[in-house]
Amino acid sequence: MSLISNDVNFWIILLIAVGCYQRVDAQVFSLAKCPTVSVVSNFDSSKYLGTWYNNRNYFAIFQAGLDCITANYQLNPADSNNITVTNKGLKMTTGATQTAIGWATVVESGKLSVNFPGAPPSQTANYLILDTDYDTYAVVWSCSNLGPISLRFAWILTRNQIPYPATVYTALAVFKKYGINTLKLKITNQFNCP
Ligand SMILES: *[C@@H]1O[C@H](CO)[C@@H](O)[C@H](O)[C@H]1NC(C)=O
Repeated sequence: MSLISNDVNFWIILLIAVGCYQRVDAQVFSLAKCPTVSVVSNFDSSKYLGTWYNNRNYFAIFQAGLDCITANYQLNPADSNNITVTNKGLKMTTGATQTAIGWATVVESGKLSVNFPGAPPSQTANYLILDTDYDTYAVVWSCSNLGPISLRFAWILTRNQIPYPATVYTALAVFKKYGINTLKLKITNQFNCP
């Protein structure tokens, strides 16, 4: 009985992971529950808009080989609490680009709900900005408890395609402050991008 239910759980978790991947690109399972984190106060979404380069994030097999990943945030002209999200990546080996367009709403300061078509709409905050100075880096976190374990997403976004090491260090320190594993963050290639 437990074998069967473990199997079913495995597939459910895998499906969740695949579904989440489409939204956020990468995840790591942890055998612990989500840590308690705090987010940026007085979040100013207008200063957060524009292009961010994906510096590093938790790896997912589905994402293997994607280079030059960017996220672009633009206000939806028809609705000032609706931000259009455009995620792009390039598979350098084939030259194929991958684009996902979704939208985000600010749920509360520093907490966004990001949705992509094809996935059931989420009202809950699944994109937490742990820290940003708006001009150089953003530390983004998402975590869902799945019973005793958790599914974790982490990104460091930078305004410069090739950031200063000190900028990355500042961002990594934010994750470390909450005991979040930074060794599992995989660097996105941002060299020789078109
Ligand atoms: C945000 O805008 C997109 C694209 O116009 C739309 O599909 C989506 O439903 C909007 N979301 C909300 C919460 O209004």
